[in-house]
Amino acid sequence: MECELEIRRRLQGAGQEQLLSFWDELSPGERDSLLGELRLLDGAELQEHCRRALDAYVRESSSPQRLDHRMSPVPPEFLGSVRKSAPEELEAWEEEGYRQISQNKVAVLLLAGGQGTRLGVTYPKGMYSVGLPSGKTLYQIQAERILRLQQLAGEKYSTRCTVPWYIMTSEFTLNPTRAFFEQHNFFGIDRTDVVMFEQRMLPAVGFNGKVILERKDKVAMAPDGNGGLYKALADNHILEDMEARGISYIHVYCVDNILVKLADPVFIGFCVSKGADCGAKVVEKSYPSEPVGVVCQVDGIYQVVEYSEISPETAEKCNPDGSLTYNAGSICNHFFTLDFLKNMAGSLEKRLGYHVAIKKVPYVDEEGNLVKPTRPNGIKMEKFVFDVFQFAKNFVAFEVVREEEFSPLKNADTADKDTPTTARRSLLWQHYRWALKAGAKFTNANGRAIAENAGTPEADEPPAICEISPLISYFGEGLDVHLNNMDISPPFILDIQKV
Ligand code: UTP
Repeated sequence: MECELEIRRRLQGAGQEQLLSFWDELSPGERDSLLGELRLLDGAELQEHCRRALDAYVRESSSPQRLDHRMSPVPPEFLGSVRKSAPEELEAWEEEGYRQISQNKVAVLLLAGGQGTRLGVTYPKGMYSVGLPSGKTLYQIQAERILRLQQLAGEKYSTRCTVPWYIMTSEFTLNPTRAFFEQHNFFGIDRTDVVMFEQRMLPAVGFNGKVILERKDKVAMAPDGNGGLYKALADNHILEDMEARGISYIHVYCVDNILVKLADPVFIGFCVSKGADCGAKVVEKSYPSEPVGVVCQVDGIYQVVEYSEISPETAEKCNPDGSLTYNAGSICNHFFTLDFLKNMAGSLEKRLGYHVAIKKVPYVDEEGNLVKPTRPNGIKMEKFVFDVFQFAKNFVAFEVVREEEFSPLKNADTADKDTPTTARRSLLWQHYRWALKAGAKFTNANGRAIAENAGTPEADEPPAICEISPLISYFGEGLDVHLNNMDISPPFILDIQKV
């Protein structure tokens, strides 16, 4: 095993000997732990990483590169839409999706390695409860959707089927996520069908090009972005596991979208019918300056373009029917074939570039004091999951209805958007709409009918609080038997025990 002296020499070679500044003050245990971390850092790679981080930071600090003149929207023939498609077409895609699921060819893959710094909790975001009447967490909601989907596909094709759940975690989220699943008995999913694996970490770099020490005995490390997926798939032999199970199609999604339709049969069926190797779900932008990435082509190649890379004029550009030209808002919801992922996890991964994030990184100063910076002081380098679109041979996008499918939890309740409150409201409004459609009658404590549709999902709780377990309904189906003509006095939870 490499000793302190050898490591010191290697760090000197990489210009990073400051990582051992407090060596003399460390206890034997602390020394072991620091050496353990440093052994994993290859000298040449570390040097290259710091150089790249600094270059990216300098580039980022100058005015952003505009892509306007090189952009074109997704051609209509490669863009499906829930709103614009005929019901028969949607049904056909859904049927195809269910067929693939019933044959055990579809898996879901959750990106859950993020640190959730904006939400500000110390545990993985999936363990967060947004305050639903049932108290369910994001992980539980997702698990129950998988169970219901398996049931629906199984019933349609008189079979028993499985949608394996792959969960990418990081050093921050692996252990708590594993313990949480154990504690909840994997929410009723067979534990062999839940595969957790870990992404890599990268050192955070200061504006002077030096790796930051978080404590005297600890390097500041951060997960390598959700695009770290491709390396993590290779590191952990995940694609071999998928292959052994006979998986052909993978739905990749983020942990924080409370409305996520896991392995959505319509989306899967659409992508399979089009022969796509890579697909992205998108939603219409709410307004031209909404700060979301847009799926489009740049020089004829698919990518997600950030709002900062487009001029306001381009963002506001309209089609003859008045809709925005660059309207395909990315919601981190992707379809991949197994073959496509094999290529990505192989040689193509190296061709994915890094994005730079400037963050506040706690550090230890030269005197050895722990400092919590009030202003950004560090550069974190990340790859993005969607940067693989450029390698697709047959890329498609599929536009879905935002209020039905997208409400991310990003911020604490002090923010005005993408908070626990907005996520809870989105889900409860959706369930309220489903219940009304199924024929439920909401009455207050005096037996009077509650006025329908009072308020808006952005600003208010729904007129009646009604939560429907995903174990009963995946996407609003099958509720008539439970709710038609039923007088309901809210708050009401429709769950499996009550049926
Ligand atoms: P975000 O970019 O929103 O990051 O992640 P985050 O970590 O959840 O939150 P902040 O930025 O620290 O506040 C989008 C999705 O990508 C996953 C997250 O878990 C989330 O599902 N992700 C992000 C990873 O899996 N790994 C990463 O390194 C980063």
